[in-house]
Amino acid sequence: MSMKLDAPAANAPPEAEDGVWLSCIDCDHTLAPFDDVVFTCPECGGLLEVRYADLPTFEDFEGTGVWRYDDALPVEMGVTIQEGNTPLYEVPELESETGVDHLHVKHEGMNPTGSFKDRGMTVGVQVASRLGVDRLACASTGNTSAALSAYGARSELETLVLLPAGKVAAGKVAQASLHGARILEVDGNFDTCLDIVQDLATSGHVYLLNSLNPFRLEGQKTIGLEILEQCQERTGEFPDRIVLPVGNAGNTSALYKAFRELVQSGALDEDEVPKLTGVQAEGAAPMVEAVEEGNDEINRWESVETRATAIRIGNPVNAPKALPGIRETGGTAVAVSDDQITDAQRSLAEEGVGVEPASAASVAGLRKLREQDVIGRDENVVCLTTGHLLKDPDEAAAAGGDPEPVPGDTEGVLNHLDG
Ligand code: F0G
Repeated sequence: MSMKLDAPAANAPPEAEDGVWLSCIDCDHTLAPFDDVVFTCPECGGLLEVRYADLPTFEDFEGTGVWRYDDALPVEMGVTIQEGNTPLYEVPELESETGVDHLHVKHEGMNPTGSFKDRGMTVGVQVASRLGVDRLACASTGNTSAALSAYGARSELETLVLLPAGKVAAGKVAQASLHGARILEVDGNFDTCLDIVQDLATSGHVYLLNSLNPFRLEGQKTIGLEILEQCQERTGEFPDRIVLPVGNAGNTSALYKAFRELVQSGALDEDEVPKLTGVQAEGAAPMVEAVEEGNDEINRWESVETRATAIRIGNPVNAPKALPGIRETGGTAVAVSDDQITDAQRSLAEEGVGVEPASAASVAGLRKLREQDVIGRDENVVCLTTGHLLKDPDEAAAAGGDPEPVPGDTEGVLNHLDG
């Protein structure tokens, strides 16, 4: 019930602290926000969500970046590396090719560590500091580990990252390494890493900063808030649709929550909420399967493979939050091939926008849904690109042209150019 777009705002329970509390999305059990370290509902094991007694409207937002939206967040600014306020790019070639009314690309690769994860970490690590934990940890396909390592370093907390061995792009491992995290290369895929880190968190060995952590998703809500404000300023209206890559479905959940809260505060009409449209790689598409089959739950894919290693995930843990988001906003989900992803990566690069493969899935998905006429010509669309080109230099180089060896003198270079 609480996941409906028209669900009324909840009243604060006695456990609320300064109008903030945690609630289970399945059984509505409520908890004090900062008393104990919990990641899932102690009663039923369901996912937790942060709730607020007072929800802001657009007039309440001031400043820039993630913390412009502190009235929609559970803590005050603390651990920050100036995240958010990312560009919303025009992409005229892709706009005319796909034939939609407006097309913009929200490039989250322009965050401090090169992905949207920074938005979640500035909030999640601040909560960790407040709780007084001493060791942070995450499982990761790479970007979460890069972000956590930077925010862990900034907050002077020990950081442990569990990565699927051999399946993380070079730029991301380099970031975790230089920021000083302990990197455990696990013999298994991302889902195995997450199983292990959840066990470590439940047994009190680490504080978990994957998107199962409800505070992290609060920071990621600000992607949705920024898109609404920027798109309104640019085009005079809110977007009809946001197309985004899906891995663990944290962003899909966070954007839906941002919009639900704006509806609850009266800042947004229900029919103004953008249609959330998720894109997965064909080799890792359990969310698409659930949406296509009309299921309320996903079936875990044990075997996953895609060039877009960031979204090489078979068990999206946030599906119970994300599936209602896709359904309630009138969105959908679609799977694209690795070649379609690389084509989209090249097309974005041709417009000067450098992204990693998973990010390009959003544009590949838009193309496919336009061809199927699921997305209409009259739509105002924003594609989310989640990570920077430099995250995965190997895939970028493979998708681009090869360097040409030339002699070390001008004549030789000119001969080569003329030849
Ligand atoms: N795009 C990129 C570049 C990512 O790194 C991720 C997730 C996603 C999309 C999917 O986002 O999970 O919110 O649906 N990366 C995680 C990680 C799993 O470990 O870095 P989601």
